[in-house]
Amino acid sequence: MSSKYIKINKKINNFNKTIEVDGDKSLSIRWALLASQAIGSSRAFNLLNSEDTINTLKCLKKLGVKVKLSKKFCQIEGRGINGFLYKKNLILNAGNSGTLGRLLLPLLIKSPYKIKIVGDKSLSKRDFSRVIEPLKNMGVNFYPQNKKKLPIFIKGSKYLRPIKYIENLGSAQCKSCVMLSALNIDGETSITAKKSRDHTELLFRNLKIPIKIKKNKNYDLIKIIKPKSINGFNLNIPGDISSSAFFIVLTLLTKNSKLLIKNININPSRFGVIKILNKMGAKIKIINIRKINNEKCADIFVKTAKNLKGINCSSNLNSSAIDEFLIIFLAAAKAKGISYFKKLSELNQKESPRLKIGSKILNMIGVKVISNKNSIKIYGNPDLKLNKNYIIKNFLKDHRVFMMSVISALSLGGAWKIYNPESVKTSFPSFLKIVSKLGAKIN
Ligand code: S3P
Repeated sequence: MSSKYIKINKKINNFNKTIEVDGDKSLSIRWALLASQAIGSSRAFNLLNSEDTINTLKCLKKLGVKVKLSKKFCQIEGRGINGFLYKKNLILNAGNSGTLGRLLLPLLIKSPYKIKIVGDKSLSKRDFSRVIEPLKNMGVNFYPQNKKKLPIFIKGSKYLRPIKYIENLGSAQCKSCVMLSALNIDGETSITAKKSRDHTELLFRNLKIPIKIKKNKNYDLIKIIKPKSINGFNLNIPGDISSSAFFIVLTLLTKNSKLLIKNININPSRFGVIKILNKMGAKIKIINIRKINNEKCADIFVKTAKNLKGINCSSNLNSSAIDEFLIIFLAAAKAKGISYFKKLSELNQKESPRLKIGSKILNMIGVKVISNKNSIKIYGNPDLKLNKNYIIKNFLKDHRVFMMSVISALSLGGAWKIYNPESVKTSFPSFLKIVSKLGAKIN
């Protein structure tokens, strides 16, 4: 897909299909980073083949890690903890990925040389002080000092100390950054973390890294002791619930339609989107539940929704649905009554300021919205039908803004010109193929 924009002029309806979405992004990146720290080979099956993962593999290769990517699996020959091959003048490019940028830093904290970390336009606007600060407290050096954004240089230290860290944002990236630093620091690292996705914790358990977790209502207390070594490990990566969410909402909003989405990671810390939509009356069914590598997986069955209703959404669900809010907002726009989502300032810290952009898009399609930096009130309209021209410029090339716009066009009608189709390569390269499979015509 090399064109600047796509055009969609027609709604879809009447589909009854089974689909699979691409592999989970959070798990794919974590597998690659941890495999690089292991001794021996590791394989991932169904690794997400997207720009974020490819950038992860490229960074690891630059650090001397051997990577083999075949159709069936990806194989990494780990170099062991603190085994990277450091060179002078190394530049590592995290591309668009906050997860890669923030989870790579803790693996570099013993580098004897300065390493330059860069990212694309969107990532270079995002806050890195949230991970730089705890790493500095451990004794890691950053240049220029006091810089909060990429590009930045990191230089490690021989004298690192474990920290007691309080993670207040509900950010799995911040939590995982400190957790991964514990691989390289003698002693006990302790984290009091507001609830967020727990893939790193589950992987640490799988890898027998000494970790203790005490779960409280809103916070987890995590203690990690530096392991001697990690052995190579294989991982089967299920589909990404964040990618499936676009098709769940498409089905809910499309006449006479049914969709079965196979093999999705339904880890409870990622399950907020299903909870929210079901509270809105979506009746999404979770079937065939099983565990793969400690992660809960299932198939998801969804049908056209008859009576979606607005929701006053508890902010306790924010972290477990953080990547799905754009598409949840669309569902709310078509629901009966007012929806209210609050304490969502973190949404403006994503690949683009999504709370702001989501409000703008809803406004553009004639939905009444009241929003500020923290919250959004959406006045839903079950009779919402579109018949005008709509242009989505998406200046920061946010993959999820693109996908939300496509689903809006396919479910609500109107003539749409949506820029930056290549942005889906970040997280969900098969997105447009699946859209076509469901009967959509895209020019
Ligand atoms: C992710 C954590 C979330 C999420 C991102 C992936 C992860 O970010 O938005 O897409 O894999 O840890 P925050 O931790 O910044 O909330």
